[in-house]
Amino acid sequence: MSRILIADDHRSTAEAIGLALDALGHRSHVVHDGEAAVKAASDQFYDLALLDVRMPKVDGIQALEAIKEESPETAVLVMSAHGTIELAVEAMRQGAVDFVTKPVTLDEIEVKVANALRQRLVWMENTYLREQDGGGRGFDSMVGAGEAMRVVYERIQAVAQSNATVLILGETGTGKELVARAIHENSRRGAKPFVRVNCAALADGVLESELFGHERGAFTNANRQRAGRFELADGGTLFLDEIGEVAIATQVKLLRVLQEKEFERVGGVSTIGVDVRIVAATNRDLAAMVDAGDFREDLYYRLNVVPVALPPLRDRRDDIPDLVAHFLLKYAAEMAKKIVAVHPDAMKRLVRHAWAGNVRELENTIERAVVLTQSDTITPDDLGLTERARRQQENGDDPVPIEGASLTDMVDSFEKRLLWTAYTRANRVKADAAKLLGIERTTFRYKFDRHGLADLDETAR
Ligand SMILES: Nc1ncnc2c1ncn2[C@@H]1O[C@H](COP(=O)(O)OP(=O)(O)OP(=O)(O)O)[C@@H](O)[C@H]1O
Ligand SMILES: [Mg+2]
Repeated sequence: MSRILIADDHRSTAEAIGLALDALGHRSHVVHDGEAAVKAASDQFYDLALLDVRMPKVDGIQALEAIKEESPETAVLVMSAHGTIELAVEAMRQGAVDFVTKPVTLDEIEVKVANALRQRLVWMENTYLREQDGGGRGFDSMVGAGEAMRVVYERIQAVAQSNATVLILGETGTGKELVARAIHENSRRGAKPFVRVNCAALADGVLESELFGHERGAFTNANRQRAGRFELADGGTLFLDEIGEVAIATQVKLLRVLQEKEFERVGGVSTIGVDVRIVAATNRDLAAMVDAGDFREDLYYRLNVVPVALPPLRDRRDDIPDLVAHFLLKYAAEMAKKIVAVHPDAMKRLVRHAWAGNVRELENTIERAVVLTQSDTITPDDLGLTERARRQQENGDDPVPIEGASLTDMVDSFEKRLLWTAYTRANRVKADAAKLLGIERTTFRYKFDRHGLADLDETAR
């Protein structure tokens, strides 16, 4: 089923084409002038638009231009009773897939539409998968060539050569760690170690000995001397991830290393000097933490010599198709699945989604879609975004709706989804689906029937 827009001021022609295409299983929408066509195409996504050239208000060629601009993935077929070569050439130049001369028979339209839709799929396949090795890449590991990321790449390039401390700011999943690595790799220190410390994962005391090392006997379990991450990173880069989570006491010690480039191991007396470039990152608002007294102001200024702010994904939606292609290739290869395209509806949904979890959430979504898809094309259903988007919209990340919920009902509906997903993934073999879920076949059958999935199975076939 494809969604098809038909625009022709000759009403009976438009209606007849619409009915013929609907009869083939498509869903058509008929309008009678160019302006209405452009509006319809911006309200809703169409796989294909069939445009008459001579129409009131906005003519077919102008409408074609506007639709291609707004929705490049819509294939456009142009029809005209005034079949001149010039018109056909102009239409193709504006991105039409084909040109039809009126009067046309319905048979002819059906063939042209089928060809156009097929051509579009091939085109989609090529653009999404080929962009992979061309543009769309900033640094080796970073994808996204939009304006917002270009600013980030320039900043990385500019700062990499210096020894300046860099503070990377950005929401969760925006790529802070990738930026830290890119800075390291593009610096003179690239061949030396890149050492990451996740400051959030370690309790205060542990973090200190992790960073600075300790002497034998420094504390109960310190059976031998141990070098800290600062020493390990000597000559290279130390990445202090989640710097906003460091306790005040440790902040004081960090400040000293930043100022003096030297420190003592925990329980030690001798001073150790290191040559380490510091890159720190956080998703917290450090300035606000300073105001609240939770982060030392002097340390903040020491760290924030060169800030790099990563834009959230929802503010750089033009990068989404590149990122999707990147993750699609990655996971299709990993899972040895042949996936050739993302359905334009799916792509549209991906581009529009709110992405609270940024690139990481997008990556997880594609990974899951690659696992779930039953064909060689990722469809909107494979994304599972609607359900999640609705939930997120209603109550942030909180799975319990504001108005409260029935645990039994929620568990029930979750169980139903699991059963159905397992069943379709197991190619509708109940025994295999039961195995996927680690339950007895009889239990599976019982639950399957109880949820009315047998009926769904009938209608879905
Ligand atoms: N521009 C990008 N191109 C390709 N992959 C990206 C890009 N940005 C982020 N990613 C991927 O998204 C995921 C999250 O990125 P990363 O871990 O760097 O985010 P983060 O900002 O450190 O998140 P957090 O604050 O949660 O630690 C990673 O798998 C990373 O490879
Ligand atoms: Mg991170």
